[in-house]
Amino acid sequence: MNERRVLVAVSGGIAAYKIPELVRGLRREGLSVRCALTPAATRFVSPLVLQTLTGVPARTELFDTDEEGQIDHIALADWAELVILAPATAHSLARMAHGLADDLVSTVLLATRSPVLVAPAMNVNMWQHPATQANLALLTERGVRSVGPESGALACGWEGEGRMAEPETLVAEALRVLGPPSLAGETILVSAGGTREPVDAVRALTNRSSGKMGFAIAAEAAARGADVVLIAGPAALPTPAGVRRIDVETALEMRDAVQAEFANASVVIMAAAVSDFRPARASARKIRKEDLGDGEGIHLELVRNPDILAELGREKGNRIVVGFAAESHDLLESARRKLERKGCDLIVANDITRESAGFDTETNAVTFVWPAGDAEELPLLSKREVAARLLERVEKLRSARG
Ligand code: CTP
Repeated sequence: MNERRVLVAVSGGIAAYKIPELVRGLRREGLSVRCALTPAATRFVSPLVLQTLTGVPARTELFDTDEEGQIDHIALADWAELVILAPATAHSLARMAHGLADDLVSTVLLATRSPVLVAPAMNVNMWQHPATQANLALLTERGVRSVGPESGALACGWEGEGRMAEPETLVAEALRVLGPPSLAGETILVSAGGTREPVDAVRALTNRSSGKMGFAIAAEAAARGADVVLIAGPAALPTPAGVRRIDVETALEMRDAVQAEFANASVVIMAAAVSDFRPARASARKIRKEDLGDGEGIHLELVRNPDILAELGREKGNRIVVGFAAESHDLLESARRKLERKGCDLIVANDITRESAGFDTETNAVTFVWPAGDAEELPLLSKREVAARLLERVEKLRSARG
């Protein structure tokens, strides 16, 4: 596999404890990662942990014959397609700005010809010091990219700017710098989660969708360089980095939000489990038992919600429209009928009765159903992997349309 190669250079700050998370995040994106540490960094994070996560020994010494024998420092600098200095301490930024090369990390930073991303992390006063700001300005002028620092409580006890950017933010930025972003220039609208239709002031009709599939698609599309708008029903999930999220509750709100964003979208992926029905009347007050006769139940009249996907299918023009089909039986026949009825370019069908697939699971087993009727069955995969396979198909459809 042609993996892209990232060198994570670690300098000695307390935020180094987040580096294993950064490395895992980069590995999850399918990147090949190596680590180089300053002597001070090894006091905050163990080279053995990084070796375990990357699968190769972490380098720590410039003048160690064993280490140099595995990959010498110039080969390491050449190997990297991107170097991330994280955390970037005030001291390491100063050394970089002055072109010092007296340890492994500073030497590699001077020798590399690839893009360099720095993630400053330090005490707020050190960060605001004119020396640090001047060093960073000089580095920026030379093309070094920086992410953060963020504001908050600092390990030193001060409040303010100085926290290292979160690992997931760094991963997103690394992917952006690395490219090639296969979905650059595309605006992708993704809906996710279930909807919630009010019955009265406290009750609602909803479904078991967790939103995980749609959120995974949004994250993967952003990692591939698309502008992503995520329209989410109630879901207790964090917003993926680089994604614009619009929260909605009901199917009607989802329809309005989708319609408002549709004009700007080149691809629409409706992963949401939209409620097909809503109570004809929602009581603004709580329905109390004492307001009913003894033992009496209530009758809920349900009316149909609009079919958002079918509406989009009719107005799609040159856009790619992808739907989902959650089925408990007759999977392929039903998915084919939905594809036709809703004017989709592709339907992602899943059998919700299968174990480890469907609602609120980490994995999914789906079948892509195409307009000609062909079906492509995928094995059980993580939802992120399903998202990657889906977006590969979307990329092909986009390039076929020119
Ligand atoms: N969908 C939609 N608006 C609705 C219902 C569904 O946009 N009111 C979309 C879903 O987001 C999904 C696709 O249509 O992409 C299929 O959803 P599904 O629930 O499987 O199909 P339904 O059309 O609701 O048919 P049924 O529930 O009768 O199987």
